[in-house]
Amino acid sequence: MDKINPHLEDENEILEQEIKTNVTEITPITKQYLQAVSQIKVLGNQFFLGDGRSTVCITVVSDEIIRVRMAPQGIFLVDFSYGLSNEEFRISRIDTHEDDLEYRISTNTVNCTITKSNFHIAFSDRDDVRINEDEYPMHWEENTDFGGYYVYCTKKAEPEESFFGLGDKPTEFNIRGKRFTLWGTDTYAFAKDQDPLYRNIPFYIGLNNGISYGLFFDNTFKSYFDFGFQEKNQVSFWADGGELNYYYIHGPHMMDVVKRYSHLTGRHPMPPMWALGYHQCRWSYFPEKKVKEIAFNFRSKKIPCDAIYLDIDYMDGYRCFTWNKRYFPDPKRMIRELKADGFQTVVIIDPGIKVDENYFVYKEAKEKNYFCRRCDDYFMEGHVWPGRCQFPDFTNPEVRDWWGDLFKECVEMGVAGIWNDMNEPAVFGLGTFPSDVRHNYDGKRGSHRKAHNIYGMQMVRATYEGLKKLQNKRPFTITRSGYSGVQRYSSVWTGDNVASWEHLRLAGTMCQRLSISGISFCGSDIGGFTGEPDGELFTRWIQLGVFAPLMRAHSAGDTPEREPWSFGLEFEAICRQYIELRYRILPYIYSSFWEHFKYGFPILRPVVMHEQGNKENHFRQDEFTFGDKILVYPIYEPECKSVDVYLPKGEWYYYWDNRLIEGGKTENVLTPLDILPIFLKAGTVLPEYPVMQYTGEFEIHELLLNIYYASYSVNSFVYEDQGDGYGYENNFYLERKFLVSGNEHSFEISQNLEGAYSPRYENCRFKVIGVPFKVGKVLIDGWEISQFDLNEAGNLIFVCDKNFRSIEILS
Ligand code: GLC
Repeated sequence: MDKINPHLEDENEILEQEIKTNVTEITPITKQYLQAVSQIKVLGNQFFLGDGRSTVCITVVSDEIIRVRMAPQGIFLVDFSYGLSNEEFRISRIDTHEDDLEYRISTNTVNCTITKSNFHIAFSDRDDVRINEDEYPMHWEENTDFGGYYVYCTKKAEPEESFFGLGDKPTEFNIRGKRFTLWGTDTYAFAKDQDPLYRNIPFYIGLNNGISYGLFFDNTFKSYFDFGFQEKNQVSFWADGGELNYYYIHGPHMMDVVKRYSHLTGRHPMPPMWALGYHQCRWSYFPEKKVKEIAFNFRSKKIPCDAIYLDIDYMDGYRCFTWNKRYFPDPKRMIRELKADGFQTVVIIDPGIKVDENYFVYKEAKEKNYFCRRCDDYFMEGHVWPGRCQFPDFTNPEVRDWWGDLFKECVEMGVAGIWNDMNEPAVFGLGTFPSDVRHNYDGKRGSHRKAHNIYGMQMVRATYEGLKKLQNKRPFTITRSGYSGVQRYSSVWTGDNVASWEHLRLAGTMCQRLSISGISFCGSDIGGFTGEPDGELFTRWIQLGVFAPLMRAHSAGDTPEREPWSFGLEFEAICRQYIELRYRILPYIYSSFWEHFKYGFPILRPVVMHEQGNKENHFRQDEFTFGDKILVYPIYEPECKSVDVYLPKGEWYYYWDNRLIEGGKTENVLTPLDILPIFLKAGTVLPEYPVMQYTGEFEIHELLLNIYYASYSVNSFVYEDQGDGYGYENNFYLERKFLVSGNEHSFEISQNLEGAYSPRYENCRFKVIGVPFKVGKVLIDGWEISQFDLNEAGNLIFVCDKNFRSIEILS
């Protein structure tokens, strides 16, 4: 090997620097490509390969994750990421192989092969099936305006390959044939296919030939993804600066990919139980009398609701952390009274701080030098709701601490959640900050070019960390903007959508996409933010909302009010029925959340995730599952009479009449307005609470378990804890793990308990659905019980101690 690049000569030193300035050669500014590999150096799990000028670092992160970085002039940028969660990974073994043609790094599941002659990088599985490979060597172009490089990577797109992911794009679920930009943007009343929107999630999943992998391009500059748009057989991603720095995430199943991506970038911690209830929002409910009237209507009309939101008008002249005392003379009392009636209060906060010498937040931030500045040291000023504003630099850890502490008064007043808006950041007229604005970037420094895409995430991080410090409860936060990893700090909503059927469908697709992009706690503005839904659209949106992890109705101030009762009694009755359904399945939703938190599984799962080998499923986006067991097909069209729902292989029960359906094909179901097609996997144990007007309204006396007979073995689980606090981190939770299995004469249900929490109720009530034989005996832990019944629908009903080990139902 030639040793030409001086940076690779010192065995022990890996050079890095914060800003790349040493352009030594004066060459014409054109794209430069990696040349043949001429040097290789190994340092533990890091492999440095050079071509005499540039260096590529390949790191084995885990058995299934390989990281690739490129340093055009041989010097890497300081290794820092806002996206990573820094969890531990396992590396079982690393083998290498070298011959004249290639260098190969292998874990026990993946091979990363570098072809020496052209520096192409490829990933293959244990059987050496090629999964992903470069079409060109990685390349770059010098950026003469700002320094550094535009960095590019172009890979092959196989003819039948499909692509998914990238967060919130308002387009078809399968993104093959499209090009996207990541540059968080305030997009009021966005249109289908509009790009970019609010979030920046540089993670995608490729699926070819039944094998799937993920790619996380951890670069916060404006970046671009092209999935066969420009060249049919190529996928490219590139950025306006920073490092070409990506993670190849091995599958082969999409579920493995999402799980591993969640391991890399983190998961949403358990939310407080109330946050999974129904939320009512509007721009804005004020004054106090109006808020109380809304609350009163929910309770008197018996429509469950857990949270009421206060939009910007609660503030004094839109100054964050203040109250308009004319509208809300005594917020603490109001919040207490709402709480007594079962309502949590969530308030909005924006990053724009009004320039006002008499305003304490402005004064403090100015004194402490916490506001963002332009390149020549002017303050970054722009107009937002309060008028002329300056903006805290949330990329400065000290600013984040200060911001977090500002919530002290809110917490003391009893505010339960903080809604973080306009944090792309949005600036009227300009759109966002000009690129010369400077940021601390956690001491690594950078312009807005580098910090824009993570600004919103750092704002909600500051909010979340502040709340966590100030209260002994789980914080509830919701954010509009975010970068990969934002799920560690917040839930998200899809932004300012429109009251149209097209947007209802987009909401379904976008939430599935967010979910597989690591952001499970997501929802859309039910009813559409701008425009006016009619009763039918609103009702169908409520139905979709039941099966969104975050269920919040919201509307713009210049539209007629829309609460579940706004469209007349017929619609109100159906909305009530569905919001009640949400509350009945809350323990299932909570359990699905636990599964997300514990294992990184997404809460919403597209059909392709259940059956990725079937190519038709790559294009299905209407039906999806909520958690592992419930499949829904929200109705996305007006006056829809029926739909053909695809059910993956296996057996399913139709929720409305419990009929058994064989999967692996479509099923036509009728869809009058009060029917949302819902199916349950055979073998499901579906826990159910009685309808409450808000979570925790009363203690439950029994847990209802709906058990759907299966003629094969199926696992299910139910998770319970105190509904708030951090007991679950210290084993204070209960996970009931069920295994059910049936044949022609018997059906067994066994239960294993994990965790130290014991709910207050003593018994579980069983409702066993679909038993195909006449029940003669029921044994609980070997003892025959004398009392069991069949209800009108023929379901077997009995009660049993909550800690049972096994139940046998015999003919
Ligand atoms: C933005 C938000 C919207 C909010 C409004 C007023 O448009 O996206 O949800 O109601 O600002 O605060």
